[in-house]
Amino acid sequence: MTVSRFITFEGIDGAGKSTHIESLKARLAAQGPVLSTREPGGTPLAEQLREMVLHSGMGPLTELLLVFAARRDHLDKVIEPALAAGTTVLCDRFTDATFAYQGGGRGMDLAQLATLEQWVQQGRQPDLTLWFDLPAEIAAQRRAAARAADRFEQLDLEFFERVRAGYQARANAAPQRIARIDASRPVVEVAAQIVAVMEQRGW
Ligand code: TYD
Repeated sequence: MTVSRFITFEGIDGAGKSTHIESLKARLAAQGPVLSTREPGGTPLAEQLREMVLHSGMGPLTELLLVFAARRDHLDKVIEPALAAGTTVLCDRFTDATFAYQGGGRGMDLAQLATLEQWVQQGRQPDLTLWFDLPAEIAAQRRAAARAADRFEQLDLEFFERVRAGYQARANAAPQRIARIDASRPVVEVAAQIVAVMEQRGW
């Protein structure tokens, strides 16, 4: 029987998760169908919302609602159908990012976030979350070498330390689901940590 898995990738901007999503996809593709997608985004409508969230000025509540609206469309049209068809879904960011960025970073009420999480996801949670953790300062150095900054990437070190603390709180609350990866290590070592997490689960 095919077992579909929902795996999400999290961490502050500059943690380096993109490289590892691709290599994990190649590894899992040997076992069955795999789809990779991202949030905010993953459907034409949600990609439009992403563009707004990343580049238009707005208040924190508007930002939060757009992120969850995008998530609902993505769940409806892509994630739930794929999982139902036995496809493993790899998603670059999901609701832990909302708790970290809108909750930790922007200071939005966590109880309100939890209500939206329940409302939008109807109990759906990732089977595994790989959290690429590193100090905000190292992440900022990596970003500086990369590309033009979006609305989030322009924020200061304190913002990203709050985001990081938001991830830590989520990891503490769901230690079975969220595996911390030390993303400050060189790429090969990070890849080895991911393989170890997968093997632990027999994946
Ligand atoms: P990111 O995933 O880092 O994409 P890229 O690799 O193209 O930069 O960027 C998405 C941004 O959106 C990131 O700064 C975090 C933010 N974000 C939130 O604030 N809340 C959310 O719920 C999600 C999914 C993302």
